[in-house]
Amino acid sequence: MSAPRRNVELKAIDPDPARSLAAARELGAEDRGILRQRDTYFRTRSGRLKLREEEPGGATLIQYDRPDAAEARESRYRLTEVGDPDALRASLDAALGTLVVVEKERHLLLWEGVRIHLDTVQGLGSFVELEGVAPADSDLQAEHEKVARLREALQIEEILTDSYSDRLLGTDALVAAATDVMGKAHAPYSRYHVGAALRAEDGSIHTGANVENSAYPQGQCAEASAIGVLVAAGRTKVLEAAVIADGADIAVPCGGCRQRLREFMPLDGHIHLCSATERRTVTLEELLPMSFGPEFLPG
Ligand code: THU
Repeated sequence: MSAPRRNVELKAIDPDPARSLAAARELGAEDRGILRQRDTYFRTRSGRLKLREEEPGGATLIQYDRPDAAEARESRYRLTEVGDPDALRASLDAALGTLVVVEKERHLLLWEGVRIHLDTVQGLGSFVELEGVAPADSDLQAEHEKVARLREALQIEEILTDSYSDRLLGTDALVAAATDVMGKAHAPYSRYHVGAALRAEDGSIHTGANVENSAYPQGQCAEASAIGVLVAAGRTKVLEAAVIADGADIAVPCGGCRQRLREFMPLDGHIHLCSATERRTVTLEELLPMSFGPEFLPG
């Protein structure tokens, strides 16, 4: 069996991809152009397994393992070229099951053996990734040093500990919880069923549906119900929210619910606006610009 290859890598949110690109070019990094990648992740007993389909390029099966850590970390991986990706995808899906599909556009640059990835990931945003590819006999020190130098030059601050697939799965789980509770809405008057799911500071998910009343003004929105559940569970923060309705369009929180979320959520927190077929992610600040919040009141 072939030994795994190794690299040193780190990933971070990229607040300014144009600045990162300029910094990489300034260092003399070689621009290798833009790639479109579609990664299908399969369920596994250990580590990760994904089929990468790349344009331009081909298809590769990638098996890898890496610890989740907020620092440059060692990753071990095996690559297998794939001639018939459709058939392999169907086989692995039938045998193992598909976990998630991640689609992204990758601007690839190379600097002294370190790959610089400026990634725009569908549904997640912009990221920068550094991969110091190690020769077989390396003790990884040189790779760590180069990645550290690049990190400084690109002004990378907050390093992510999770992967794109974890992030998408997290969001999928939140949307699934909102969809599930939407089915429990009490909406006999409007017949507009809404579900909301909130992720609290400890990662726990709290859900609520709209609850209408024959005395119409006594009805309650799904977001308000979910906030009540979160508070009753002893939580005080909302990190991420999903709202879904059974109409043709994506759900958008009413003005009152935007303010309700404002009480518990940071302005840069993500809100996923969903219908059965569509998802749009916005920040609370986009929904509620120039807003009033608890910090305006005297302490
Ligand atoms: N609704 C929500 O649950 N959340 C919103 O943000 C918008 C409106 C509900 C309230 C009512 O039960 C129904 O949708 C029609 O207004």
